[in-house]
Amino acid sequence: MTLTFTLNGRKMSQEISPDESLLSVLRRCGCYSVRSGCDTSNCGICTVWVDGHAILSCSYPAPRAEGRSVTTMEGVRDEAQDLMTFLAEEGADQCGFCSPGFIMSVLAMLRELKDPTVDEMEQYLSGNLCRCTGYNSQHRAIVKLLEKRRDEHHV
Ligand code: FES
Ligand code: FES
Repeated sequence: MTLTFTLNGRKMSQEISPDESLLSVLRRCGCYSVRSGCDTSNCGICTVWVDGHAILSCSYPAPRAEGRSVTTMEGVRDEAQDLMTFLAEEGADQCGFCSPGFIMSVLAMLRELKDPTVDEMEQYLSGNLCRCTGYNSQHRAIVKLLEKRRDEHHV
């Protein structure tokens, strides 16, 4: 079957199998930031956005993306720049395998919650696993990002 959707702002048509996951299609389209950590909806590494909402692409049937707008980290590099800088400064980007999914979740959280509390942040990101950092450095990076945004917006 043919899947027609928008990927990072560009119209795409791809031949897919009806039982294929969105993750598999996105990698075939060259979005190699989208990775599989578990393939069972347990690690958050495959997180992308569909119509602006964070979803797990390993368990999202590709046919459901028909006519929708899909965003991967390749499509939000500018928006992610500050977060990537703070993650690097805090040593929160170790093997880096979890980073694209984590970044997509953090950016989705900031769009949704604007200025989350630490509790809200921990709850929102609880599905994004990282076997390297112990999470503290990731959280410090987000706190720094929130401080920068508050300064910029004079909150
Ligand atoms: S690969 Fe999708 S949640 Fe782990
Ligand atoms: S930095 Fe290695 S899994 Fe998160």
